[in-house]
Amino acid sequence: MCGIVGYIGQRQASAICLAGLRRLEYRGYDSAGIVVVNAGRLDLHKVAGKLDSLARALERRPIAGQIGIGHTRWATHGKPSETNAHPHLSCNGRIAVVHNGIIENYQELRRQLQAAGHTFRSQTDTEVMAHLVEQHYAGDPREAVRRAVGELQGAFAFGVVCADNPGELIAVRRFSPLVVGLGDGENFIASDMGAIRAETDRVYVIGDDELCRITADRVEIIDLELRPVRHDVHVIPWPAEAAEKGGHKKFMHKEIHEQPVAMRACLAGRLSSADKPVTFEDIGLTADNIRRLRKVVFTACGTAYHAGVVGRFLMEKLARIPAETDIAAELRHRDPVVFEDTLCIVISQSGETADTLEALRTMKRKGARILGVINVVDSTIAREGDGVAYIQAGPEIGVASTKAYTLQILTIALLALHFAEVRGAASAEELRAIKAALLAAPAHAEELLRRESDVVAVARKHFQKTSALFLARGVNLASAMEGALKMKEISYIHAEAYSAGEMKHGPIALVCPDVFVVAVAPRGPTHDEMIGNIMEIKARSGPVIAVAFDGDTKVLQTGADDAAGPRDTTAQPNDMIWVPPTHEMVSPVTIAIPLQLLAYHVADLRGEHIDQPRNLAKTVTVK
Ligand code: M6R
Repeated sequence: MCGIVGYIGQRQASAICLAGLRRLEYRGYDSAGIVVVNAGRLDLHKVAGKLDSLARALERRPIAGQIGIGHTRWATHGKPSETNAHPHLSCNGRIAVVHNGIIENYQELRRQLQAAGHTFRSQTDTEVMAHLVEQHYAGDPREAVRRAVGELQGAFAFGVVCADNPGELIAVRRFSPLVVGLGDGENFIASDMGAIRAETDRVYVIGDDELCRITADRVEIIDLELRPVRHDVHVIPWPAEAAEKGGHKKFMHKEIHEQPVAMRACLAGRLSSADKPVTFEDIGLTADNIRRLRKVVFTACGTAYHAGVVGRFLMEKLARIPAETDIAAELRHRDPVVFEDTLCIVISQSGETADTLEALRTMKRKGARILGVINVVDSTIAREGDGVAYIQAGPEIGVASTKAYTLQILTIALLALHFAEVRGAASAEELRAIKAALLAAPAHAEELLRRESDVVAVARKHFQKTSALFLARGVNLASAMEGALKMKEISYIHAEAYSAGEMKHGPIALVCPDVFVVAVAPRGPTHDEMIGNIMEIKARSGPVIAVAFDGDTKVLQTGADDAAGPRDTTAQPNDMIWVPPTHEMVSPVTIAIPLQLLAYHVADLRGEHIDQPRNLAKTVTVK
């Protein structure tokens, strides 16, 4: 879960690597380093802590060289420290490597290399690669890397430079992402396209067990059996500014605000009118495949899993296909029943999450057809599925996923509608109502963003509390889960989500004035029961923030005795977050937005590192 970057050309490599690392910092930020090749030797800076420390070290002592590699780390083996920071060097200090991934057999290799006389400086798994390349080096770094990789088990993307070969940069991957950026008289490597988008819009997306020899003018790709590999040039479809903050204080804030535009892009070409059928690009499923589906399994991690929780409701309700949603990390620990004609919908923003990829492979082995709902084009999960529906969110840099979530739900809703239409499973009236709600979602999102100051006012009242409960029922249970995840991951307030129906079975014991309760209570089949829950919490002096549709007087009149008796205003929610009314099945899309803003502003008021929350990384490429 680290980021790697590399440069070869005529410019100063350290500046380009540092800029690339800044865009990769979301992948890990506990230590960082850059090495360049200069006048036949390696010149290195490594620091513990965030990239700013590396930038300061480079200012104090600049390193000059036109070929270099850099790394930002999320520690897996060995604590975050300068010694464990990458790049790692061979014993003779003439070979340097940066690595994203995990070498599973590193202990065995380390013992062998130590027995052969190599001295290790760090506790990392990565360092074995520097020594292995040294062991195999006989003048050709690519061949040494090829032989070294032959001994590795695990996942990796490596960048390698060698003081004795200052004209070449070597890169190789297995399971961890790697792209090669193509410039004029210069070339780049990176863990993702966003890291080098400011430099080029043309990349090769490197496949597993492919090895690249990169010079300033040429990129040569082979497989591990030395056979040449050809890739089409992929043109990055979004502008360089998409990976910048664009005037927002944090990427998370920018990405929350990008949702209306991103939603329109996601709907475009698929849904134009409530009276027209949904059309999909090729998603690897024929109409006959869709008609024969017997079961849909959603699988994903974190926020993407919550989108799958909504997906299950949509698939059952609209397409009338039995549906399940599984946490990807748990799926492989069960023995799921896969029928012929089971579809597994694998949801992932990055398309690189290790547990999600493992779940995909488990379901594929069992015979399920795989459909990815993915953001990052050409990512591993996108490529390993039988088909993919891209959510079209553009780059998401903030560690807390925001726009990807709402677009995952939109995409899944479109899929459910499409399946319903092909199977003739829902009434025209019902389909029209859902489509109208989806088409209105971008405008509703705009309206919710205009109301941001209302959410700030609520955040001001509660940001010093230490615990929160998020309650909801039905399809909005996902909203509670996602709201609580956002709150805990960036504000560090302990936040838990429960079905409000479970409240009396235990969680109600937590209710007290210090714990704020976010009650998601849109109009619909769960409304009355949610109002009952709000009253129960208020009766126990719990502060309630209710999320309800505009004009919902019933929520406000909570505690009023409908039949007789005085109105009990102390039973009203303490705070209201109003959202534009919409169809209940589409409401998780819009309800997500104020809950994202609530988490953001609570964290901001607490002065937390919103884009780089502690212990987290944007893309979890280890199991
Ligand atoms: O890239 P993915 O969608 O596969 O990532 C899944 C989770 O790691 C991710 O959603 C994570 O939970 C986010 N930090 C949530 O904000």
